[in-house]
Amino acid sequence: MSTTAHHHTSGAAACASAPGKVILFGEHFVVHGTDAILCAINRRVSITATETANGVKIRSCIGNINTDSLDAPINSIKTALRPLYYIAQTASRRAGFRRGINLDVTSEIPSGAGLGSSSACCAAGAAAVLRLLGLDASREKVLGLAVDAERVIFPDASGADTAASVLGGMLTYSRQSGYTNIPFDSPPGFGLIVANSGIIHDTEHMVRQVENHKKRNSSEFSLLCQKESELILKVLEILRGHDSLKAAELGRMATRNQSYLESIGVSNERLGEMIRVMRSLTYGAKITGAGGGGCAIAFTKEDRLAKIYDELIGRGYDCFAAKIDCAGLNTF
Ligand code: PMV
Repeated sequence: MSTTAHHHTSGAAACASAPGKVILFGEHFVVHGTDAILCAINRRVSITATETANGVKIRSCIGNINTDSLDAPINSIKTALRPLYYIAQTASRRAGFRRGINLDVTSEIPSGAGLGSSSACCAAGAAAVLRLLGLDASREKVLGLAVDAERVIFPDASGADTAASVLGGMLTYSRQSGYTNIPFDSPPGFGLIVANSGIIHDTEHMVRQVENHKKRNSSEFSLLCQKESELILKVLEILRGHDSLKAAELGRMATRNQSYLESIGVSNERLGEMIRVMRSLTYGAKITGAGGGGCAIAFTKEDRLAKIYDELIGRGYDCFAAKIDCAGLNTF
């Protein structure tokens, strides 16, 4: 075991917070090789890690655990809390730490909505625990541990969400080349509205459903992947272009991307209706994330955000104006 880490005395605490994310363009097609474009948003998970006498205790809105051991088999832990337990266990082993860790989780991100609550949790948890134990808590190390932790319950997680949580800002992700930061102006030249359908979605189920669709419609599917790749290139060009055009052009791309998502069967009646309403008030809207439920996003001018928010709330939609989070992981 490592002897390089030094231990804080009992009562030591470390805090970290990390933002959630939205996928702006490219969900599902990214699984089949295209790029996706993501951004971190101003909704955060905050975690305080404190040293205790023994075991791992987690308090969060998705559940609590109270174990006396740092060595419990991971499968004996409640599924949703396994990533955090894994972080505590792995970091403790790395540090040769034999006491206990308490994790207090607070979240502004609804879970099961595709807004990256699980990635933000892993990022904030990894940073808080690495710091508590005096281990290397560079962004690179935090990202590595956070992605490993996510894969405990989502073995196919690409790591793109987690990269957005740790690094903040806007980025492209592809299976072949990983993630690349996208520079953007602040303010970015467009406003983003996120609306939640309130239907919990299951990413793995939706990814499997798309795989089946692909098997039955392989030539149509490869054509759509081609079109999605072209759309992503166009979006990157729009993002580099003139501010006054961004909102309208991105909205048009969102509407086009939504039609591809509908072709592969990841929309449904409730999402479709929500997107039609959003589209009637903005430059364009689409699903964000896996679909089947979860959220949709719409593009508008920044100075229209408050008005559109009021309209959507007035029609009974759960929504918010999202800002791009530029900070990423925060520790304090
Ligand atoms: O889990 P969500 O809703 O953030 O989105 C998953 C994005 C997919 O492209 C559908 C799956 C993936 O692993 O990229």
